[in-house]
Amino acid sequence: MGVEIRGLNVTIGGHAGPARGGSGKAVVRDVDLTVGDGERVGLIGSSGSGKSMIAKSMLGLLPRGARATGSIGLGGTEVIGASDRTLADLRGRYVGVVFQNPGTSLNPVSTVAKQVELPLRLHYDLTAFERRDRVMAMLDKVGLAADMAGKYPHELSGGQQQRVGIATALITSPRLIVADEPTTALDSIIQRQIVDLLVSLVDDAGASMLFITHDFSVLARATTRCYVIDDGRVTEEGPTADLLASPGTPVARELVGSARRLTLSTVGLAHELSPAVPTGQGGAR
Ligand SMILES: Nc1ncnc2c1ncn2[C@@H]1O[C@H](COP(=O)(O)OP(=O)(O)OP(=O)(O)O)[C@@H](O)[C@H]1O
Ligand SMILES: [Mg+2]
Repeated sequence: MGVEIRGLNVTIGGHAGPARGGSGKAVVRDVDLTVGDGERVGLIGSSGSGKSMIAKSMLGLLPRGARATGSIGLGGTEVIGASDRTLADLRGRYVGVVFQNPGTSLNPVSTVAKQVELPLRLHYDLTAFERRDRVMAMLDKVGLAADMAGKYPHELSGGQQQRVGIATALITSPRLIVADEPTTALDSIIQRQIVDLLVSLVDDAGASMLFITHDFSVLARATTRCYVIDDGRVTEEGPTADLLASPGTPVARELVGSARRLTLSTVGLAHELSPAVPTGQGGAR
């Protein structure tokens, strides 16, 4: 099982201490969410709805002053209440994370090769030669030429930077990829290339993915099933294609409507909104 979240609640602020359910602000409320093995699942909702808080709860990366209750199983390990060591190990080996803005999530003084190599250094006992081999093979997989290895982030385009972000997330062969708005900072053509790259790498590896976005047109390419979240609660859940065709709640209708307007105005292709055709035999269902 990739992820199994049951009854997740996250509150921020209020007084820390033994009192439970205290005065903090509830930002995630009673969320149940699963991602099966080899499944690509979406989490969609407007800005501030709690998407990143759910992802951060899974990774043990909640901001100071935030408290999570409930249960989050990652590949059979309970995350809520886990030690820092367990969480770091899960992040290094089981989960790979792709962030929204590669320009700020990459280390500006680290070359591409050093960046991609770091998770291997931290979590695996390999020789320098073995690491180098893996890094070069990974750069090739994400479509970066070998001469990119020695470049620094500021020498790359936004799309190239996000390819480095994806290579860094995937270098340890994680079973689950969490992608939190990985294409929001990119233009629509590059968005599509990056989403299609992620999907093909995740499927080739037989991994699972939780893909977070507020854009239904991106979700349709990346996922087969999705959850709609509004004000911290799951309001709708089902196959992505069904939600696109007949969104049931006002929030989903709004998001579908804005994806359609955006897509028609920027690309002029209505079929943008049809779900991605699964590539190869992958894990698509
Ligand atoms: N560090 C923080 N301290 C206090 N409140 C926070 C913090 N981070 C987020 N919040 C609050 O938690 C709620 C959920 O935020 P979250 O970042 O999960 O939204 P989101 O759905 O990811 O939005 P976006 O699409 O803009 O990234 C919001 O009300 C936000 O104001
Ligand atoms: Mg967010």
